[in-house]
Amino acid sequence: MLVILKDNYDAMSREAALIVVDRLRKKPNLVLGLATGSTPLGLYRELIRMHVDEGLDFSKVVTFNLDEYVGLSPRHDQSYQYFMRENLFKHINIPQQNIHLPDGMAQDIDGFCDWYESEISKAGGIDLQVLGIGPNGHIAFNEPGSSLGSRTRIKTLTENTMRTNARFFKDILEVPKYAITMGVGTIMDSRELLLLANGAGKADAIRAAVEGPLTGQCPASIIQLHRKTFVILDREAGCKLSGSYPGTWRSSFLLDR
Ligand code: GLP
Repeated sequence: MLVILKDNYDAMSREAALIVVDRLRKKPNLVLGLATGSTPLGLYRELIRMHVDEGLDFSKVVTFNLDEYVGLSPRHDQSYQYFMRENLFKHINIPQQNIHLPDGMAQDIDGFCDWYESEISKAGGIDLQVLGIGPNGHIAFNEPGSSLGSRTRIKTLTENTMRTNARFFKDILEVPKYAITMGVGTIMDSRELLLLANGAGKADAIRAAVEGPLTGQCPASIIQLHRKTFVILDREAGCKLSGSYPGTWRSSFLLDR
């Protein structure tokens, strides 16, 4: 695991974009795992900027998103389908058929989850998975207590997550109680992980994930077992780490490893 502390959100986002773009240039048909939430928005803005200004090409990229609320149609403005379309996909040249998100309206959820796993395998597995982290240490919607070997499945959201995500809905009662999420094991199969976190509200979760014991109570702590993980943080999210971590690594160093 390589933990990189940056001064602020924009610097964190640019650093993350450098890694994604490097991988994309080396492999134009990159299989890219994507996340929703406020954290990766700066990364997506930077990717869009590079597409518009520098012609960064997404025409062969294949994407798989981590999760989706159960019961929200793709047209609902809080569905993750909608989020991805508005914040990334409609601004870049990725073909629609290369985009995969869990289907929150699936009738046969278990069947859908098996199909999603098989599509990831058929694509050759995920090369680089972008991750955020919940204040409770969840990754995707793998809530505390999740099995560390889990695959894509339906999960019940904790009260804590529903409260945290209520900020995007008119009322907490509108927050879906269930989600389809890649499992911890699915995420761990990705060749590289890129975990991003910013803000003081993530400091405890980051400390638990990076330096705490490996436990299903903090699903993000599984990254300690991953072979190639980048954790990119702003100062606030990294402020409770006790180890000493590089603050100003030259990106070329990162990319050469
Ligand atoms: C959500 C998503 C996660 C995301 C996390 C953090 O509930 N399911 O994939 O990483 O919570 O969200 P944010 O980036 O808005 O803090």
